[in-house]
This record gives sequence, structure tokens and C-alpha cells, in this order.
Amino acid sequence: MAHLFSLSPPSYHEGYRSGDAVQFPKTPFFTGFNKPSRLEADIFELETSGTIPKDINGTFYRIQPDHRFPPLFEEDIHFNGDGAVSAFTFTNGHVDFKQKYVHTDRYAAETVTRRALLGKYRNPYTDHEMVKGIIRTASNTNVVFWRGVLLAMKEDGPPFAMDPVTLKTIGRYDFDGQMLSPTFTAHPKIDPDTGEMIAYGYEAGGDGHDGSTDIVVYSFDRDGRKIEECWYKAPFCGMIHDCAITEKYLILPLTPLKVDVERLRKGGNKFAWDPEEDQWYGVVPRRDGKAEDIKWFRADNGFHGHIANAYEDSKGHIVLDLTVATDNVFFFFPPANEKPTPSHLLTRKNFTSDTYRWTLDPSAPTETRITPTLTLGLNGEFSRIDDRFTSKPYKHFWQLQIDGSRPYDFKKCGPPAGGLFNVLGHFTWADTEADTETEVGKVKVEKDVFFAGPTCTFQEPCFIPKAGSTKEGDGYIICLLNHLNELRNDILIFEALELAKGPVAAVHLPVKLRLGLHGNFVESKEVEEWKERCKNDPVKVATEALPWQKRMVEENGVGELSGVKEAVGVKLNGSDETNGKNGH
Ligand SMILES: [Fe+2]
Repeated sequence: MAHLFSLSPPSYHEGYRSGDAVQFPKTPFFTGFNKPSRLEADIFELETSGTIPKDINGTFYRIQPDHRFPPLFEEDIHFNGDGAVSAFTFTNGHVDFKQKYVHTDRYAAETVTRRALLGKYRNPYTDHEMVKGIIRTASNTNVVFWRGVLLAMKEDGPPFAMDPVTLKTIGRYDFDGQMLSPTFTAHPKIDPDTGEMIAYGYEAGGDGHDGSTDIVVYSFDRDGRKIEECWYKAPFCGMIHDCAITEKYLILPLTPLKVDVERLRKGGNKFAWDPEEDQWYGVVPRRDGKAEDIKWFRADNGFHGHIANAYEDSKGHIVLDLTVATDNVFFFFPPANEKPTPSHLLTRKNFTSDTYRWTLDPSAPTETRITPTLTLGLNGEFSRIDDRFTSKPYKHFWQLQIDGSRPYDFKKCGPPAGGLFNVLGHFTWADTEADTETEVGKVKVEKDVFFAGPTCTFQEPCFIPKAGSTKEGDGYIICLLNHLNELRNDILIFEALELAKGPVAAVHLPVKLRLGLHGNFVESKEVEEWKERCKNDPVKVATEALPWQKRMVEENGVGELSGVKEAVGVKLNGSDETNGKNGH
């Protein structure tokens, strides 16, 4: 007699989903620690160890891609998963947990059919006809608090707004009709002095999938008014994932991962790595920008990681700190002439991802070639700072690191899902050579690190300022810990400037989350204040289709589950909220 689990026919035929069995691919992206958790949860009073600091009163929000349904393509990737937001709410030493999916337009459409309709990552040519014209974004990359709502963001589409208390989706957010570009970054920056949000979209000129080289830059002031909008051109359509701000400038790192519309039309990958292309840095003024103002700096090939910080020095030069990898981190987007074989490539290429300091002279001519002024020899990613020092000179940053010299229990854990981020590091820029610890070359940082242990890795850290304190670094670091052997997560809390002493407390989840991307902490009093304000001035979500969707209705028609016809892009069939109304 056949074993029960062998009764179903194969779920994938020649790489495409077949049959009705609900089974995820057996590839490394969907098995082990990477298996989708698909969890919507509400746990009151999580287990803890140590003493949860009673001065943390607020919520740590983070987001993960988490496929709801087996993907259409067997070789699908983590970044194509539906966004699910987790909220860890700290109240006087107690911690509660919530997790909910972002109810995007794709969420609504795929709920109707109970199966995936959207195909490959950012390739609409691989979608089911029923969703032609849909806003495809999975809203799975970052979650940012803005004027009373959480914005779940991914750079291929507009944000979706959620209630920060219930995590219910309110709807697509267009900044009161002021933001109509097809794409919008997942890494906006908030100016700590002015309270404004500086953001941008790339591949923004058309429908967000057409290889346009247009970049739009926005600023919204603390009252939500759009105060800047300027359109620029990139030298090619490539990925601009993160950005940096200084007092006067916005810096846009353009990574040599290139879009080719012909490749998309043939059902290929969104991006192809170009090892021959430079890494580029676009610099634009934050005030009164004009199309011709963009200045590009070029450097030898590299793959941008996340920004630590940027500021202007006494000479008016831009100091920019970020990680840059020596090779293609997105191994699933190989060069155009290589066959993509993501499932065979979980053992990544042997590259390093160091922290670099670049110094850019805004008065230099465009296309000036640059080299970094410092390379720190820290193999890491996911740099974070005390966000109150965004755009200013700063002393501290925190980063996940890959330390191959530490023990790793491969037998219990297998290949480390998402990368061997086994060390959480705190780094202090030294003031003088005298208090410098030398590592590689002219390193000028002090190290304070904590090793996760041989069966664990970390997810992105987040800084929590101590209530009432304004001193840089005076606070906590919160960080998800992956127990790769137990398939479960903890949250660790550290004194931010004393990581090596180990966590002061741990919060224990009884379940496994999926590997997340980014998160942020919001104080309870801020959420409460906005809740009151929103009673009189409800949060508004989009009420019209995006311009490209309207054009599509006239030119090509749209699919029955695109969401365009019935509510011109904003009717959320799967949402719990009334369209267009405040969700509080
Ligand atoms: Fe990111």
C-alpha cells in the first residue's frame, strides 16, 4: 500500500504548478527553516527569560515574505512571498504578539481562487490572464509608521496602509492622492529634524515593469503635504534598493542588476547581474531639484547592501557608509548569459560584504570615478543606526555579520537559511587613531559583538531609544534569533552599547516565523496620539486606479480579478475594512 504522502501526483510539471494538490516546492527556498509559516496569530503574554526592560513601551514591527500559496513556478524565490507583518508589543515588561498578512490586491485576487495567480518575481508576463493589470506588489520588504498608519512597502509598487494596533489592512496608500507613480521605495528616510519623509521610485515612468529609466523623488512634510517631486533619469534601469540622506542631498545607489523587457516578455528573470557594469551613486538636491541636477558617481563593480548612514562633513562633502559585496548577492539573478538555477545555488559564491566609507564631492562633475576612503573588513549586512541621527555625524552602528571562524552545527541545521548571519555586531567610529582597533588596513572602528551560537542566526537588528534620553546609542537593540535546529524564533534584547555582555532578556515564540527583511520600533504613546488625531481626521486610502492602470483599461483591457474594474484599483476583496475609511 502506498504511503499516504505519495498518493498525490507531482505538484510541478516541468517547473510549472500542475494539479490541485496544495504542496510547496521541495526546493531549498520552501523547505526547512525556509518553509512558509503562513501564520496569522495573536498571542497574549509571550514566554520570556531574563527581565524585559520596563522602559520599553511600544511595538517592534517587522515584515517577512511568506508565500500564501504554492507558487506558479517551482523555482520561485523568497522575495516573491506575500508580505506578513509581525508586531511585538512591549508593555511594562510584558510582550504580546500579532501577525497578519498585508491585504494587497494580489492577496484579494488569490483569495478568490485559493491559488497563486501571479507568476515570477516582478514579471507580469508570467501571470494568469485573470490578474492582468493588477498592482502586483506583495508589500513584503519594510514596515514604516507614518501619520497614524503602518505602511507595508516593496519597491515594485505603492505602499499598503495597515492599522498599527489590529494590523488590519486599510488599503492602498497614495499620500492623499499625491503619489501616483507605479513604484515606491521600501526604504524611505525620515528626517529626524523636520519629520519629513524622503522617498523615491525607480522604473517609475510607466507601469513599473517596462524598464523605464525614470526615477521620481518625493518629500512629504510632517503634515503629509508633498513639498518636493522631481523626475530624473538613470543611466540604465537597475535596482535602487536603499537610499541615504544628508541635510542637503539624497543619495541613490544604483546596483548593476539590470532589467531587460525582452527577457521579461519571454518569461525570464526581472534582473540580470552585470559583472562588467560599475556601481553608481546618484546624488540629487533635497530642495528644488531639477531633472538636470542629478550627478552620478561611478565605482568598480559591486553589489550594494544597506546604508548605515550619511552626512555632510565640514568641507561640504558627503560621507556615505554602507556595505558593498564583491559579487552578486542575488545568485538567483545571474548574468543574462547564465542559466538560472536557484535551487542549486544555496551555497553562495565566496564573496565578502564589507563596510565601505565613500566620500563624494557634490561639486565634482557627473560620472566622476570614486574609490572608497575606508574599507572596514567587516563581512556583514543589515546595518542600522540610532535613527535619530539619520543624516547627521554619528558614532554607532549595528550590523549582522558572517563569521566563518565560529562553530556551526551543519549536521543539525543544514545549510544556513538566508545566510550565516551568526554574529550581531556593534561598531563605534573612533575619534582618533589612539583608540582605534586595527583590523584590515586603516580600520577606525571599535568592535563589540555577540555570537548567536552554533545552531542560530540573526535577523535584522533594530535600535530602541530609551524613553526620555537623547544621547546617541542610549537604548536597546532588538533582534530576532533563528533557531535553525528547532525551527523556532526568539527575540533577544540587548543594551545597545554592550552587546558582548549578552542579552538582558529573551522573548520566546512557540512557532517559527519566516526569514524577515526589515522592521522598526514605534513608541506606544505615538500610536495612541495618532489614534486620537485620526478620530477627527481619518486616514484616507487611494480611491482611484493608478494612471498606468487607467491607460491599460483603455488600451489592452484588464483581467477580471485585477481589482481595476470594480473599484479602479483599490477595492480590497480580502480586506476586513470598508474601502476608503479609516480602519481605527
Ligand atoms: Fe532592504
